[in-house]
Amino acid sequence: MSGQPPPSPPVASLSAFASELLAGLQARPRAVAPKWFYDERGSALFERICELPEYYPTRTELALLDRHAPAMAALIGPGAEIVEFGAGASRKVRVLLDALDTPRRFVPVDISGAHLERAAAALRAERPGLEVLPQVADFTQSLSLPAAAGRRIGFFPGSSIGNFEPPVAEQLLRRMAGWLAGGGLLIGVDLVKDPAELHAAYNDAQGVTADFNLNLLARANRELGADFVLANWAHSAFYQPALQRIEMHLVSRCDQAVTLCGVRLEFAEGDSVHTENSCKYTVAGFQRLARGAGFEPQAVWTDAARRFSLHWLVPV
Ligand code: AVI
Repeated sequence: MSGQPPPSPPVASLSAFASELLAGLQARPRAVAPKWFYDERGSALFERICELPEYYPTRTELALLDRHAPAMAALIGPGAEIVEFGAGASRKVRVLLDALDTPRRFVPVDISGAHLERAAAALRAERPGLEVLPQVADFTQSLSLPAAAGRRIGFFPGSSIGNFEPPVAEQLLRRMAGWLAGGGLLIGVDLVKDPAELHAAYNDAQGVTADFNLNLLARANRELGADFVLANWAHSAFYQPALQRIEMHLVSRCDQAVTLCGVRLEFAEGDSVHTENSCKYTVAGFQRLARGAGFEPQAVWTDAARRFSLHWLVPV
């Protein structure tokens, strides 16, 4: 043995997570896409976020669905195929499926196969008459759907569209308009509001959002053998009014070096890694974006405090 450290693997042999994380940490400003939060532990932490008292989006959207599902079902029509983008625990889609007139097929699409199969198996057991056809795919990259079994309706709840910057969100919506030709899209969108309320939602008192953010580094340690010391990193989330978005960052608490896939990365105290944007919209602003992407906004539902919105969009 030479005693030399092993050479860094060529980038082509790294997993998508490894190569994106490495590229993101070597870029300036440093930035990593939020989709990498969602391994098994990250998905479980996100489920806990959804239950937090400060995190209003989930319960507000669920209440909107509960209240307006009959009107949504009337717009969707009978015998529909529902395609859920980024299917999580699928609690929200159950409210929709319950209201629909004989939905023909449910197609949950998610990047995590294990998560998806569990959710699909539970739905099949509950609804023997419904065909459930999960698709493991990163729909932000590419998606090939089976031939439609009915009017194809997209369901994209949770304001996940807010995790893309507006031009990227518009591109994604344009692709959805193509996949959903002849059908429609029901999409949840978080609204611009008092910055104090937004700040609380992303800086919860129990620190679950901080753990969710830090899990990116913990995941790199688990999956890639990196040596991030979590105590050396701080969660930071703040509202940027000019850009109408919450930004999440991981900030280095000290000067430090980390080894990732054989590459030494140096961080000075205060250096930040941008891990997420959560863009907020006005109803009119989101409808403008949707029109630009080839949809006609035909209905919108909001709660009395105008915290959250659900939009019914039809591809033109
Ligand atoms: C999934 N997404 C819509 C969440 C959001 O609010 O942007 C992710 C999240 N990040 C921190 N808390 C929740």
